[in-house]
Amino acid sequence: MKTYKIAVIGGDGTGPEVIAEAVKVMDAAAAKFGFKTDKTYFDFGGERYKRTGETLPDSAVEELKKFDAILLGAIGHPDVAPGILEKGILLKLRFALDQYINLRPVRLFPGVETPIKGKGPKEIDYVVVRENTGDAYTGTGGITMKGTPHEVAVQTAVYTRFQVERCLRYAFEYARKYGKKARGVGPENTVGLVGKTNVLTYIYDLWERAFHEIGKKDYPDIRRDYYHVDACCMWMVKNPEWFDVLVTGNMFGDIITDLGAITQGGMGIAAGGNINPEGVSMFEPIGGSAPKYTGQGVINPLAAICAMQMMLQTLGEEKAAQKVEDAVKYVTANKLKSLAAGKMGYSTSQVGDLVAEKVAE
Ligand code: IPM
Ligand code: MN
Repeated sequence: MKTYKIAVIGGDGTGPEVIAEAVKVMDAAAAKFGFKTDKTYFDFGGERYKRTGETLPDSAVEELKKFDAILLGAIGHPDVAPGILEKGILLKLRFALDQYINLRPVRLFPGVETPIKGKGPKEIDYVVVRENTGDAYTGTGGITMKGTPHEVAVQTAVYTRFQVERCLRYAFEYARKYGKKARGVGPENTVGLVGKTNVLTYIYDLWERAFHEIGKKDYPDIRRDYYHVDACCMWMVKNPEWFDVLVTGNMFGDIITDLGAITQGGMGIAAGGNINPEGVSMFEPIGGSAPKYTGQGVINPLAAICAMQMMLQTLGEEKAAQKVEDAVKYVTANKLKSLAAGKMGYSTSQVGDLVAEKVAE
């Protein structure tokens, strides 16, 4: 029987609670579809940092490389200054494990309310492929003359052809496999590049040239669109049905996926995967640690369950992944009153039970 070694990092705030439900559903899927998971729990996060002063030791990175995948709850603690845990744990893992893709589906599930009038699951059904290792996230830059009136701050967006190319290829491959034509819900598979070629004339010139070169040569079957990022934000609200697979740099990808998340029902459902197609990938709900709800059993675990679902898909357990997706859709369509914390009509663990029971059926 196939056994997957899974590293589980519950993290801060409500992270451990939602991850417990994701693990519950994973166990149900494993039992149903004939695979095993060997889980190891790690306590990285704000509490450990407060206790030991340590965010993520280098030895932990080495240890995590031995797993098949990582399931992460949330990083962020009210007593710890912003940036320390984010950079010291989340971004460190993304970079050290070279998880160069941040895959973030924007899918409205049945029964889920969207703030966009007149749009439903048919219209809100795309993914964002966010580059996950470059851009302004690399820490290139610095501050000089700090604290004087002449203080200078520079933080440079960095992209290499190599980074851009591997990300674009992932997006094209993804579109071929899971695009709207491939899924039988549209006439073509499409990749839309989101950039800012009118101002960022170096970075997004590189992206745009690579996009058309690679697309023309190796993916002629896939339609190519281009959007400036500002306009893209408008279309994400007004015409989300135009999109299939969007690909973009790290910073724009960060911003537009929060917009995308709210159109799909908010942080209770939005999930993402930090993917290294040749290495160890890490899956997480994209909302934060929601500390004010900690320990109350009111937080929505569906985003964590959906992150686990993406993990199963990436591990190659396609049938199990499909079943989990169907189960989540069943629960949103027939059970939950709302996706918001405390308004679901069920507790956190009851929502996990509902999904797990449906998976086991
Ligand atoms: C995200 C988050 C992170 C990011 C932060 C917490 C560093 O906003 O995963 O989208 O900017 O990537
Ligand atoms: Mn973000």
